Amino acid sequence: MFRGSIFVDPFISIGRISRRIYGHFIEHWGRCIYGGIWVGPNSSIPNINGFRKDVIEAVRGIRASIVRWPGGNFSSQYHWLDGIGPRENRPRKLNLAWITKEGAEIEINEFGTDEYIEWVRLIGAEPFIVVNMGNGSPEEAANWVEYCNSSKDTYFARLRVKYGHREPYNVKIWGLGNEQWGWWQVGFTLSGEEYGRRALEFANEMKRVDPSIELVAVGHDEDMEWNIDMLKMLKDYIDYLSIHTYIWPENYSYEDFVATSLLIEDKIRAVYSTIVYAKNRYGIKKDIKIAYDEWNVWYPEARDYPYIQITSVKDAVWTALFLNTLHKYSDHVKIANFAQLVNSIALIIARDDGSLLLTPQYLVFKLYTMHNARDVVKTVVESPSYISEKLGKVVDYIDVSTLREDNILYIYIVNRSRDEEAEIDVHIKNLTPKAVEHLYIAGRSIDDKNTFDNPNNVEIENNKEFSILGNTINVKLKPHSINMLKIYT
Ligand code: AHR
Repeated sequence: MFRGSIFVDPFISIGRISRRIYGHFIEHWGRCIYGGIWVGPNSSIPNINGFRKDVIEAVRGIRASIVRWPGGNFSSQYHWLDGIGPRENRPRKLNLAWITKEGAEIEINEFGTDEYIEWVRLIGAEPFIVVNMGNGSPEEAANWVEYCNSSKDTYFARLRVKYGHREPYNVKIWGLGNEQWGWWQVGFTLSGEEYGRRALEFANEMKRVDPSIELVAVGHDEDMEWNIDMLKMLKDYIDYLSIHTYIWPENYSYEDFVATSLLIEDKIRAVYSTIVYAKNRYGIKKDIKIAYDEWNVWYPEARDYPYIQITSVKDAVWTALFLNTLHKYSDHVKIANFAQLVNSIALIIARDDGSLLLTPQYLVFKLYTMHNARDVVKTVVESPSYISEKLGKVVDYIDVSTLREDNILYIYIVNRSRDEEAEIDVHIKNLTPKAVEHLYIAGRSIDDKNTFDNPNNVEIENNKEFSILGNTINVKLKPHSINMLKIYT
């Protein structure tokens, strides 16, 4: 057992949280949409208008704030008109974004814009649509904005009404393409400048249809030259710069793996400094923030169809560390989308036989979305540390972020240690805790999973063994654990 201390100053706010950081991502990829979200109204799997009921309930359980769709790579070859109107008339097409050993996946287009909006409303989230900048045109993207957001008596707005949706959908957040720097992308571009030039045409035309939309441009988590070059072109047209990060766990020992959240911090700092630099250099006035709109771990077994990985406690530890980082950088990152929500490298596994599995990563989202806080408050940790040679980092065993919601504090604490329990004194400056709840996820080992045979193997547990003395709480944290202290003051 090791000892540590946490000092919380509830009256010093270090950032304002955007609820959009608890977002998710769904893509026409593997069994995410078809089988995962959409089974059709005639399915024997219980559904609401064709949407899996068990998945809706599970997603409601993690209060998904914003859901990005239709991709990902898929968006760069998706023509939205294929996905509206009577389902029996919609075309079957090759999904050129995702090529399996048997060739391209087949897109049946049963789930299109109207289904997406209906589903997003059912789960209580906000939509976020990524337009096709691969083989699509600015005109096609602008027409999509008209279909979704216009109440005018014009062709595409009327089409929406004709298909049964009188009220505009008011989609606020729109992505200008996806990973346009990647050779795997249909219609990829060769430089930030080339992307910026094309994206400008899209932004210009889309904003003429609805000037109130907010645009997310494709950025890069490592290539700052790309970011500067595209910002130079797009200037005040955009509101967010998107970055994506996947960690390949097979490249790391457990200790290095759970230290990678420090690399995420480095990335956020570097990207945000680049935005500030470009703003000064090119006279950009817009308050551009980061949209971390894809992030997760990605295991070798999920690199081929059907892209399923069943993650364990160590991935839950990593996920909590990532969310703590988003809390700490809440002034820089205003949107984040975990990749992905259902079946493909996902939190929720929904099988064709109607069974459902919630991973320990899912439980982390459950814990981290229990609050309604807006303020992140100053928190200092005193913890033993270790050295990650691979990352060149000194790593604290204890990682923490604190949120304040009126008179309630939510302290999210991760114990990275593989084997050691931590005894922690949590000091709350100038406030006396009246009551405390301690919920945690730890399993019994870092490799513990939930499986279809043992779906509740890893659970959120409740610890009542802590003590409060004055303004200090003394609590023990299990090894490899994710903890939430809810403190009523
Ligand atoms: O999330 C899976 C894929 O990873 C996305 O489609 C793409 O944007 C990224 O490369």
